[in-house]
Amino acid sequence: MSLIPFNQASPVGNELGYIEEVLASGHIMGNGPYTRRCEALLESVTLSKRALLTTSCTSALEISALLLNLQPGDEIIVPSFAFVSTANAFVLHGATPVFADIRADTLNLDETQLKKYITSRTRAVIPLHYAGVACAMDAISEIAKRNNLVVIEDNAHGLSGAFQHKPLGSWGQMAALSFHETKNYTCGEGGALLINDEHYIERAEIIREKGTNRQAFFRGEVDKYSWVDFGSSYVLSDILAAMLLAQLDRFQAVYEKRREIWRRYRDSLQSWADAQSVRIPVVPPNCQQACHIFYLILPSENCRDRFIAHMRERDIHTVFHYLPLHLSRMGRRWGGKEGDCPVTEDISTRLVRLPFYYGLADVQQEEIITKIRAFTC
Ligand SMILES: Cc1ncc(COP(=O)(O)O)c(C=O)c1O
Repeated sequence: MSLIPFNQASPVGNELGYIEEVLASGHIMGNGPYTRRCEALLESVTLSKRALLTTSCTSALEISALLLNLQPGDEIIVPSFAFVSTANAFVLHGATPVFADIRADTLNLDETQLKKYITSRTRAVIPLHYAGVACAMDAISEIAKRNNLVVIEDNAHGLSGAFQHKPLGSWGQMAALSFHETKNYTCGEGGALLINDEHYIERAEIIREKGTNRQAFFRGEVDKYSWVDFGSSYVLSDILAAMLLAQLDRFQAVYEKRREIWRRYRDSLQSWADAQSVRIPVVPPNCQQACHIFYLILPSENCRDRFIAHMRERDIHTVFHYLPLHLSRMGRRWGGKEGDCPVTEDISTRLVRLPFYYGLADVQQEEIITKIRAFTC
């Protein structure tokens, strides 16, 4: 059998048909009919007031950062076990990052420790739903409300997930989605900003359109458009929106396929994992997870690295994940040091992700499972 990659994007529906349509229409810039159709679908599945397609999740996070009007010294709380953009998008626009530790079970921001990171300068908290399993959004929202903090969900992993039956992306004032190649729904590179607090909508549209009121102009609300605020080029091309629409059209089918793959990993690996002291993902009962990642936590770093090598020798690509942000070269600029976030530091050395994508065939998954079961720590 040939190499089984960690990820492989594939069409799931009418991608080529929609792309041909958009090309034939002669209108391929952003903010066109395909963008609007994607946004309407996202609004209906996430229940958010407005979805704005963007060039990436990073761009969506940047728009949310600009909406905060950050002043020098303003702080944001971000989990250290996160992607670079989760912090960088805010730092780029003037925030001081405060790195928080995660829960050992879900690998999400530890809500029981959140209060200790809050100061008089804290403006926002950025919970990340790791692997598409929800953060404890009830507790986080409550603490944020009491301390007047904006909640911006990094929901790059969690589209289709929910917490207490409320969709991920609808808990914070804003949320960011990713449609990068590795995500559950993709157009190669892309993202969206979900806005749940209406008062951000008008300005978010302006920021996305390079600081102009172009969108209001196209709606006929103003007779000229001009430079009215900060902004950048965050609009997604309608060609990519056409690809994305085909993926979103198959929203439930993609979710169900991923759930099947996730469950097969869980059911087939549980006894091996118990025998090897390996931990598989924990999904608390109040979470409907998005089935974005299937990870294993090996007993030690050495064992994790041997596992990756064992799988690679058998032509199966498995990969580690985030390095602690507070220990990165950038994180250390804000005083990050060993021991600040012990759970993050520990998990990051022991976690490995298994191949997981829509087109993963049953026979390939069987092969992966057989090779995993042949590994001993
Ligand atoms: C949690 C998280 N947030 C943000 C991003 C950035 O996404 P994008 O590549 O769409 O900017 C990623 C990328 O993988 C991610 O994992």
